[in-house]
Parts: sequence; C-alpha cells; structure tokens
Amino acid sequence: MKIDIITLFPNMFTGFLNESIIGRAIKENKVEINTINLRDFTKEKHGHVDDTPFGGGAGMILMCQPVFDCINSIRTSDSMVIMMTPQGCQFKQSIAKELTLKNHLILLCGHYEGFDERIRSIVDLELSIGDYVLTGGEIPAMAITDSIVRLLDGVIEDDSHEYDSYSNWMLEHPQYTKPRNYNGLEVPEVLCNGNHKEIEKYKLKESLRRTYLRRPDLLENHKLSDEEKLILDGIIKEEKC
Ligand code: ADE
Repeated sequence: MKIDIITLFPNMFTGFLNESIIGRAIKENKVEINTINLRDFTKEKHGHVDDTPFGGGAGMILMCQPVFDCINSIRTSDSMVIMMTPQGCQFKQSIAKELTLKNHLILLCGHYEGFDERIRSIVDLELSIGDYVLTGGEIPAMAITDSIVRLLDGVIEDDSHEYDSYSNWMLEHPQYTKPRNYNGLEVPEVLCNGNHKEIEKYKLKESLRRTYLRRPDLLENHKLSDEEKLILDGIIKEEKC
C-alpha cells in the first residue's frame, strides 16, 4: 500500500514516520508513506495557498489551484482521495479495515478556516476523527494512517488485533502482566491457572462488562448471540448488587 499525505507542514510527520511500529513498517517495506508539500504546487507569485473567503468572514480558505494540481499530479485510477475535515463522516475501526484493501490512499490535510468548496468535487471520501475542531488535518491524517498501517499484513502480530477494542464490536477485556501481586493489587486468579477454556470465558465476560459499563451504545448496535445474552444478563445482575 502507498499513502501520500498532502500537507503544508511535512515536518510534523518526522517523528510519526520514523518511530515505533510505523517507522518499522516503512523500513520493512510493508507500506510506503510520502508527505507532499502543498506549497510546492502553488502558482501564486508569493507562494500563497490560501485566500480570504468570498462573502466575508473570518480566516483563510485553501485555494483550488494548488490542491487540484497536487492531487491531479499524483492520483491514478487506483487512488482514493480522502479529505481530513471535522465535517466528514466519523472515522472508526470498520473504515480502517476497509481502507486496508486500497492500493493508494491520498490524505488531504487542511489548515486555516477550511477548503474552497469546489475541492470537494475531486475528493472520494471525507473523514473526521471526532466532534472537535483541530488546527489542521495533520493529526487526523496520522491517526488514520496509524490505524490502517497496524492492520496491514505482517505489521504487528497476526492475532494481536483479534481482541482489539471495537474490531470485535466490543471493548477489550482488562489486561495484566507480571508481577501477579503488585503492592497488594492482585491479577485475577483465572488468568494465571492455565485453563484456556476458563480464560476465554473470562475474556468474553469482561469484554462484555466493559462494553456494558462504558459504551452501552455498542451493545445496542449489535445482535447478541444466545451465549452473549446469557452472560450479559449475569453481568447486569452483578452490577446492580
Ligand atoms: N481538521 C480539523 N479538525 C478535524 C477533525 N476533527 N477531523 C478531521 N479533520 C479535522
């Protein structure tokens, strides 16, 4: 997969593209990620990429010319152009999974007050990472890139996304590591006894409990199996006590 990120601030990506799992994935050629400086595409003599809005109003608007020229110079029939905007549809794990199937993603980061509306005509998808407004699309582009790249083949251990929060629709169960007793805080006995059936039962039940307590909306949107219903009834009774 190739990801091209169009931004006015390519230096913001230096740490992101060089460290940790994303840095390793790039070094191991699991993904190619480029930053493209939008300013390199302006034909405006002072290098401007933005201007004041027609009709008045606060702030500056990204102009069509540099964005159209930039996107048209890199897009192919295989590309998907995604605009980072708080007006986009809410990004979630299921979208990250779908996007892993694409060969070429172009992520367009805005800055200032927003985009000239005509830019939307060359965009395939608009994504928001949440109901808050950031100073630009760079952090959303990093969040979206990170969530996609970690799902690509060979980037992290194959079964470690199996229990990820949201990928199985519910939140992940609580996790522990050594020591078994830390200053009197104990790891649940069931996780240490080596009984894999019991451990799987515990994980499912505690995933359901977390979801019930923290994100009941996820339960409403999912058709529970008979087993899940039974376990959830037990959890509801326990939590009422
Ligand atoms: N640009 C500014 N805020 C944003 C958000 N919440 N999501 C995506 N892009 C943005």
